[in-house]
Amino acid sequence: MGEVLGHITWPVVLVGAYKDGRHNVMTAAWVSQVSLDPTLVMVSVGPARFTHDMIADTGEFVVSVLARDQEREGSFCGSKSGREVDKVAALGLKTRAAAKIKVPLIEGCISNLECRLVARYPAGDHTLFIGEVVASHVERPDAVPLLMYRGRWGGFAR
Ligand SMILES: Cc1cc2nc3c(=O)[nH]c(=O)nc-3n(C[C@H](O)[C@H](O)[C@H](O)COP(=O)(O)O)c2cc1C
Repeated sequence: MGEVLGHITWPVVLVGAYKDGRHNVMTAAWVSQVSLDPTLVMVSVGPARFTHDMIADTGEFVVSVLARDQEREGSFCGSKSGREVDKVAALGLKTRAAAKIKVPLIEGCISNLECRLVARYPAGDHTLFIGEVVASHVERPDAVPLLMYRGRWGGFAR
């Protein structure tokens, strides 16, 4: 089954959360826009992720779309947990304050979406968090997005 599902091309984003002075980011591929008006996005997060309860408790998250040259960030934030390591500090990620929520934005990615949680649904072994995009920032409009296909990193060819 995993072999077949691996043939779906994944976008790669960082999902950021902030709680009690702690900023954490995790890599996510199961993410999508789900409504235009209001603008809603969905991210599917496993309950064991450190990020999971941060989002559930604060009701806020940031989706940062990664560029092709950010494979290192995607790999690191997708293999280490914020429980053990401060990923933002370890990678030296540059951040800045968001406009409407407490979760900082990540500089150097393609775009940042500030999201307020409007619904959550259990979905098998993951939780679907639906967020309304309350502010958005395009950082690198011409950058090529980072993708994953069949377990391999790649990029979008125009
Ligand atoms: C390419 C890639 C995509 C991933 N997509 C997801 C995802 O959509 N949902 C999820 O829960 N975990 C996903 N993960 C796994 C988490 O990023 C990983 O478990 C991470 O260490 C969790 O960090 P945290 O404990 O700090 O929240 C992905 C990992 C990689 C490398």
